[in-house]
Order: sequence, then C-alpha cells, then structure tokens
Amino acid sequence: MCGIIGYTGPRAAVPILIDGLKRLEYRGYDSAGLAVVADGRLSEVKAVGKVHQLEEALAAHAGLEEKSGCGIAHTRWATHGAPSTPNAHPHLDESGQIAIVHNGIIENYQELRRYLEGKGCHFRSQTDSEVIANLIAEAYEGDLLAATAATLEQLNGTYGIAVVSVRHPGLIVTARKGSPIVIGIGKGENLVASDVAALLAHTREVIYLDDGDIAVVTADRIDLRNVKNVPVEREIAKIDWDMGAAEKGNFPHFMLKEIFEQPETIENAIRGRIDHSMGTAVLAGMNLSPRELATISRIVIAGCGSSLHAGMLGEYYFEDIAGVSTSVEQAAEFRYRNPIIEPNTLVIPISQSGETADTIAAVREASAKGGVVTALCNVVGSTIAREAGRGIYLHAGPEISVASTKAFSSQVVVLLLYALMLGRNRRLSRSDGEELAREIEAVPGLIREVLREAPKIKEIADRYARFEDFFFIGRGCLYPTALEGALKLKEISYIHAEGYHAAELKHGPISLLDERHPVLALANDIPGKDKIIGNIQECRARKSPVVAVVTRGDSSVVKMTDDVIEIPPCSRFIAPLPTVVALQLFAYYVAVARGCEVDQPRNLAKSVTVE
Ligand code: G6P
Repeated sequence: MCGIIGYTGPRAAVPILIDGLKRLEYRGYDSAGLAVVADGRLSEVKAVGKVHQLEEALAAHAGLEEKSGCGIAHTRWATHGAPSTPNAHPHLDESGQIAIVHNGIIENYQELRRYLEGKGCHFRSQTDSEVIANLIAEAYEGDLLAATAATLEQLNGTYGIAVVSVRHPGLIVTARKGSPIVIGIGKGENLVASDVAALLAHTREVIYLDDGDIAVVTADRIDLRNVKNVPVEREIAKIDWDMGAAEKGNFPHFMLKEIFEQPETIENAIRGRIDHSMGTAVLAGMNLSPRELATISRIVIAGCGSSLHAGMLGEYYFEDIAGVSTSVEQAAEFRYRNPIIEPNTLVIPISQSGETADTIAAVREASAKGGVVTALCNVVGSTIAREAGRGIYLHAGPEISVASTKAFSSQVVVLLLYALMLGRNRRLSRSDGEELAREIEAVPGLIREVLREAPKIKEIADRYARFEDFFFIGRGCLYPTALEGALKLKEISYIHAEGYHAAELKHGPISLLDERHPVLALANDIPGKDKIIGNIQECRARKSPVVAVVTRGDSSVVKMTDDVIEIPPCSRFIAPLPTVVALQLFAYYVAVARGCEVDQPRNLAKSVTVE
C-alpha cells in the first residue's frame, strides 16, 4: 500500500526521492508525489499513475531535480477519495508552508475537517490526510516538532508521517503509530521511509520507530522522542539484505526471479535449524523450553491471503505430525469474533510483511487473552515480529512482487520445521523425525527439478491463457495448495479462478463445468489420488479441459487428462512445495501471455495496512 521516502542532506533530493519511490512501487499504488524544500521555497509535484508519470510532471519544474535540499515523497493507494492529483500526497497546509505525507487512516478526520473548515480553512482533497497539514499549521508557533506532536494528539487512527516546512530547511519531522517508519542513517545525510527497501541504496543502518515515537531528522542529527516527548534511544539495526535482492537482475519480472530463487530461499529457511542427532528442528526464536512446549494443548493460526493458505497447511502438519489440535483463521475474523484463547494455546500469526493490519490486530487480541504468541514473518523488525516478541524469521529476502511466491514456500517449510519440533516434543520417534528432517532438506532439490520444467509449463500456460474461468482442485495437503494456485492465477492474470476441495465440486460448482471451464487437478501420487481420479472423470464427463499435476512416472492419470505437469516423487507433507512452484509458474506464464502487469497487479497491494 502507500509508501513514504524522505531525504535530508547535501545531495539533490529529487533523484533520491524518485529512486526511493521506485523501490516502493511493489507495494501497489495509484498516484505519487513529492515536496522539496530548497532555495527558500517549498515545491510540490504530483501525478496520477506510476512514478514515471511523476517524472514526466517534473519536467515542468525546471531546475528542481538538481537542487540540493530536503524532501518527502509518497506513493498513494487510494482509500479516501479516488486516485487524483489533488488526492495524491504530499498535502500542503492552506498557506503552502508545510507539507506532509501520511500512511494509515485518520478515523476522526471528518470531525477535524469540520473544525478546520469552521475556522475558514479550505480543503483541496477528499483525503483523511490533508487535515494533518492544516492542524500542524494551526498549532505552529516556531517549533515544527511541537506543532506536529500537538497535532498527533488530536488524531484517532493510524499514521506513519513525514513533515517538512519551508521555515525549517533540512529538517524532517517523522512519527509512527500503527504504520511503520524507519530512519536510514547515512554519512552526512539521513533518510526516512516506510520500508527498508527504499533505503538499501543508501545505507544498511536503520532505526525502527516504535508506536508513539516522534523524531526530528536533519542531515547530521536524529532526535528521538517517545509519546510523552521524553528523549529516547532506539537500537540501530543492520539490514542484511543486499541491493541485488531488491533488483530484478536478468529476469523480466520480480515474480519470476522470486520463483526461481526458491531453492536458495528454502535453504536459507532450513539452514542451522535441523538437529540430525535428535531428529528434530531447532527454532531458537521460539524461546520456549521443551517443557513449556509440552504444555501447549492447542494451536491457532491466523493470517491473510497466501499466509492464510500456508496456515491451512500448518493445520495438517501440526495435527498429523505433532498431534496438536489446530485451527486456522482469517486474521480479520479472528480479531472480531472473540476467539477462545487459553493459557496453553499457541497462537501463530503468519505474515510475510509483518504489517498486515488484520494480522497485527490478531496478535494484539491473542496477547491480550494471554496466549503464547510466536510469529512467522519475513520482514525483520516489522510490527508483528516486534509485537509478538518471539517467532521465526523466514529469511526469504525482500519479496517485491505483490503476489507472494518465495515467502509462501518458506512459510510452509518453517511450519514443517515447527511441526517436526513439536512432534519430537511429543509422539514422534527419533527415526521418524530424522526421516522427515531429510525430506525437508530435500525440498530445494525437488524445486530445482520443477523449475527445469518451466518451458513445458509455459507452453501449457500459453494454450490456456484464453480461458476466463478456472477451477483448481485438490485433497489433503493439496487442498490448500489448490487454493494458493487459484489465488496466484486470479491475482496476476485477472482470470476468475476458484480453488475447491475436490470433493466439494459436486456440491455446487460442478453445475458450471463445460468446455469453457478448465480444471487444474492436483493428482500427485499420494494418499487421496484414487479419489481425485474419480473427480477428474466427473470433470471430463462435463467436457471441462483438465490439466493435472502428477508425480513423474505415474501414467495412471495421464490418459484421462488433456495436459500434465510432472512433479518429482515426494511424500504427502512435502508435495505442496514442488506443486505450488509449478502453479506459480503456470499463473506467471498465463499472466505474461495475457499482457498483464505481473509484479503490480491492478488494485492489489503488497501489504494491506488497512482493515
Ligand atoms: C496482500 C498481498 C498477498 C499477501 C497478503 C498477506 O493481500 O497481496 O500476497 O499474501 O497481503 O500479506 P502478509 O504480508 O501478511 O503475508
């Protein structure tokens, strides 16, 4: 969703801001803008559409790009008011002296707007954010920090903000509550951003603001205060992602690059986490002793999107491997339905970004109810990782494509490791644990084999790209995999795709089947295959074209399908991983064949920071 970048230092601000915005593009947005304080003037430039449209708009501001100074910039994903130039950020106060960029939602903005209008203030946008600039202007008595702090006290809702003023050249005030802000520490310069991806080109040393923090950032100073305006020290974190991880390299799209990275990202997720001598997994970030683990009587998993699908696989793993009763919930449902969390309930929020609003709220609900919360996140220092206090990082590196691929597979692998550890803590024997550990270690090799099938999957995808509706069916562990495959296809190709349990097809969707509704059946040679063969026959009888994912060398399904994608042999717990990689490739090539914008699909955002 929305992104923020700010710069203060001796270099020209505009190119740094534009580069930062480009690195935030992956989050999903529909307009962009920047404001720069230089030569005693505050200049703003905004445009609907992509950052290159903002660059085109900059052409009308001769000389601005070369000016050194300080500035803030923003990519906006519309919530209050359509994507339009007036609604794009930055927003200036009425006098044009103060500019702000804002991520989050101000819930009481209408009341604040009425109050300001009552004082004669005229608004130019329909956003909830514009009130912030005018409130700061109203409170301003020479101190931008004090005016911003006074304004923040009046706001209900969430914010990550950055503020500049023509009266304070070289100074940015930034603050966070519920929406991330990270300060990048440079040499003789400093940056502010909503996401470390925008900072990687300049620094690896960062400070994550805590909720309630407010900071004054100049080229050579970072003055941090907490919610009570008391100076605070925050730890300096080192980012270990390199720049290459956030660039496409030779790949045409981030999504393809990230699909192909999976053998390595899964190796990273496994590295150092298997203890062969005990046939178990070691997950240090869990911070629970074997004795504490043994008291866990129930597991509740919460997540959204692909993370929810990974969680559904977790349910199979925890119940089957570890024998612990497990349920999975859409995080928004979890937070509002008053779930039962007992002291021995282990709650596992799953979130690649660690910033999904509903999953954050689920963490808070679970913590408030006294559950043991251990998060699965990819982004180090993210809100969920920090609020949960304990958890397991995925180590997948930055995932730039909006559609999740490598983070999903790492989530699944980490859940397998988690189940192995819990299983060994209970009923799983050392030899069974060791066998599962070896299977987990073999996953990168299996995925390499699937990636070698990419040309063949592309050829199939090209032929199916003309269809407008798809069903994905599976059973057992391949049921959540079918849901994830359908989600990938609809996210990036805009084809209507539904994932179903294969047995559920007969309870309604079968009425739709005909030659215009292909079915992608997950018919790997694992328990449940015989049943899915029956389901494939039902689809064929209704003239649906069938593409089947099968185990290499298994000819039993081939003759009853139109096309097959072969997966190397593996057990039922492991099968989702090579299978999902094939489905990711299928969705990718269909989207490319349809000319879709793969990495930034319309209307979607990388992390959904609103409810
Ligand atoms: C958005 C993204 C999805 C992602 C979901 C959950 O909808 O487009 O790819 O699966 O959010 O994100 P999280 O960061 O919490 O895993």
